[in-house]
Amino acid sequence: MTAIDTPLPRRAVADGLDTARKARLVSGGGTFRTSGEPALGLRPVVTSDGPIGVRGECWDETDTALALPSPTAMAASWDEELVERLGAVLAAEARRKGVDMLLAPTLNLHRSPFAGRNFECFAEDPLLTGRIGAAYIRGLQGGGVAATAKHYVGNESETERLTLDAAIDERTLREVYLAPFEAAVRAGVWAVMSAYNGVNGRAMSESPLLDEPLKGEWGFDGVVVSDWGAVRSTEAAGAAGVDLAMPGPNERWGERLAEAVRAGRVPEAALDDKVRRLLRLARRVGALGEAAPVSASAAGGAPGEDARPLLRRAAAAGAVLLENRGGLLPLDPARLRRIAVIGPNAAAARIQGGGSASVYPASVVSPLDGIRAALPDGVEVRHAAGVRTSVRPQPVGPADCRNPVTGAPGVHVRFLDAGGTVLHHEDRPSGRSFEIDETVDLSALHSVELRTVLRAPAAGRWRFGVVGLGAVSLRADGRTVLDAYAEPESDDPTYLHVAPAFRQAGVELAQGQEVELLARRIVEPGHGKVVALTADAPAGTPEEEFAAAVALARGADAVVVVVGTSEQHESEGFDRGTLELPGGQDALVSAVAAANPATVVVVNSGGPVLMPWCGEARAVLLGWFPGQEGGDGLADVLFGRAEPGGRLPATWPATGHGPAVLGTRPLDGVLAYREGLDIGHRGWLRAGAEPAYWFGHGLGYGSWEYLAVEVPRRIAPGAGFTVRAVLRNTGRRSSREVVQVYLARPGSAVARPVRWLAGFAAVRAEPGQRVEARIEVAPRALAHWSVGERRWLAEKGVFTVLVGPSCGDVPLAAAVEVAQAGPALSAGPPGEGPVAGG
Ligand code: BGC
Repeated sequence: MTAIDTPLPRRAVADGLDTARKARLVSGGGTFRTSGEPALGLRPVVTSDGPIGVRGECWDETDTALALPSPTAMAASWDEELVERLGAVLAAEARRKGVDMLLAPTLNLHRSPFAGRNFECFAEDPLLTGRIGAAYIRGLQGGGVAATAKHYVGNESETERLTLDAAIDERTLREVYLAPFEAAVRAGVWAVMSAYNGVNGRAMSESPLLDEPLKGEWGFDGVVVSDWGAVRSTEAAGAAGVDLAMPGPNERWGERLAEAVRAGRVPEAALDDKVRRLLRLARRVGALGEAAPVSASAAGGAPGEDARPLLRRAAAAGAVLLENRGGLLPLDPARLRRIAVIGPNAAAARIQGGGSASVYPASVVSPLDGIRAALPDGVEVRHAAGVRTSVRPQPVGPADCRNPVTGAPGVHVRFLDAGGTVLHHEDRPSGRSFEIDETVDLSALHSVELRTVLRAPAAGRWRFGVVGLGAVSLRADGRTVLDAYAEPESDDPTYLHVAPAFRQAGVELAQGQEVELLARRIVEPGHGKVVALTADAPAGTPEEEFAAAVALARGADAVVVVVGTSEQHESEGFDRGTLELPGGQDALVSAVAAANPATVVVVNSGGPVLMPWCGEARAVLLGWFPGQEGGDGLADVLFGRAEPGGRLPATWPATGHGPAVLGTRPLDGVLAYREGLDIGHRGWLRAGAEPAYWFGHGLGYGSWEYLAVEVPRRIAPGAGFTVRAVLRNTGRRSSREVVQVYLARPGSAVARPVRWLAGFAAVRAEPGQRVEARIEVAPRALAHWSVGERRWLAEKGVFTVLVGPSCGDVPLAAAVEVAQAGPALSAGPPGEGPVAGG
């Protein structure tokens, strides 16, 4: 047992603090930090959102952070070693920014392709999610920074997320939705976040699921932190397994919790347990007493700039090549004279999804930048967006605006009281919203003003706007062009931060003309403090922009079309209304592919989109939200410096409806997980339906023949086994293949999916080379949760073992028998609970 694992003595809690101080400790200290307790040598534990980076305690573009590929891209790599290294990078980032605890990874599953936060979750499969999640946790915590497995549990979608009740039967909970959290606990995770939603009638911050299986059966000894604002009761939550109410100070806890404890309505022992867990967490991250935080170098993590090559590699490793007709990819730069880079996501890099997961990277490589940098000077790279997809306006940027007070690029911001006295002012690099230091007293705040001088780089009708709720106005050279009132449109807590209402007005400007802009917002209580000044440049007509892009495609040797969604379409607090690409992108792809047969389509999204043009484009590559180095990673793949290493972590539907495409809309507040165990590809298999692309699919640049498989004929009940599969690389390049093992159980006495993922391993081979993949199948993959006996059982008899490159393509088969006789119980490999013979 290491020092940090030593249990904290009971006396330290009972003797050291009175009830009020204990209650204060567990009730949060600020938006992203806990309270300290000098008497204990305890400093505040600082938290920050992830999972793609460490944003820090506030939302401020000057507080930059590395932006890693989104979790879907991480999972698409099916590469635990890589994800563990990314976790170590995040640990170094956290230490650099004084953060002790990252609010990540997100272990909810892709139940519906419409779910707004799928980009932030790894996969539709519990095994893949558990393994990739465990790797992320190992990497992060190896650097001394707490990981937080979230959102426990049943938060698979955003519609009515604060109140919805997920109705999930016990077996499905155990085998599907709890399984990744169990893997996280086995990986030693230090924190778990309880979700906003309820499960089976109980809000998750008051749920018995926090006790069993989490703290009891699984032995989780860390902290359960509430999702932000999810503790909504004193007694029910106080007595339940949630240990820390965030953000703080939480009004329902604090003194009210202390009072409930004194009155005997919440057991003192429950409060003590929360405090003990919090102190254990503090000790683990170096926030208690003499304990020093584990340094980034001790963790082996690369700080800041040094990590960029790894992020670039990760972007390529997660890219999934869906189609490559006629071997169009990789493109040979030596054969290119002119390349057209088309699409709304080509120059405007869409590197991440929206919501609390977003960060501000110091630099971003767009697909256009990456392609330009990868090609020799003689190659002409031309760009046209073709269509526009943005639904929100752009903050004025430093390139076009001057702070009228300092003369430097940027915006001058003033916070005023009702009498016009300046309470606070700041010079900002752009018109983007930001957070004011919590120590600034803004109790008398009445309004906020943003002032800048914009020099129009292009002539035409500019759209200027003010983001923020309540009364907003805008003056251009002293003339009022906007005077409006913006009502709130959602009561979701992230709404005020991330996507509040905006109002816009048009102003005609000549090229090079300067205009002084003054935006004003009157701040009302409960409306948040977000205010931004936006400027969108004039555009040609949609027809002109479209035609220009197609013309560009026609004259090029090769075309790369980058289409997709953005942080505006895939975000927190809402689900997607459609899987269609926004803004006429489908028509753009079809027209471009028709104009030039050498067209590569890059899909830049966090989750599935419909691709009606899929048969028209020769190459289709999924780049996900690839993080800040995405453009370079993409160029590496396009020009063959890296293999697109990804395999689909979720099934891609061909249409937005059908038996296996689940929606996210609760009925009378209840979202029934009626499909039971048949999530994702299992649902497609059950329905006998063919998706656009199966879970696990991805071509890479290799070509593989699956030759033979070997498994033990018979195993003891409760045991796992090893699958040995022999493959040959029949392609012309060195390549990596992700060999997937699925199990099936014909004639099962218990209901089961048609087949389910039981293990995977990657192999690498040179052209012509034969390799053996060894895939471990853990006992749990053979087990089912017996609701009657309340334990894991392995059904005796024969399981079919299927091996292949995706769930829809399993060329090799074998059989393994779980023996009739043998030990009744086996502990299985370390970290896995017992499985009994059934
Ligand atoms: C999100 C969490 C996040 C928290 C803090 C919540 O709205 O659901 O994932 O960690 O906010 O930003």
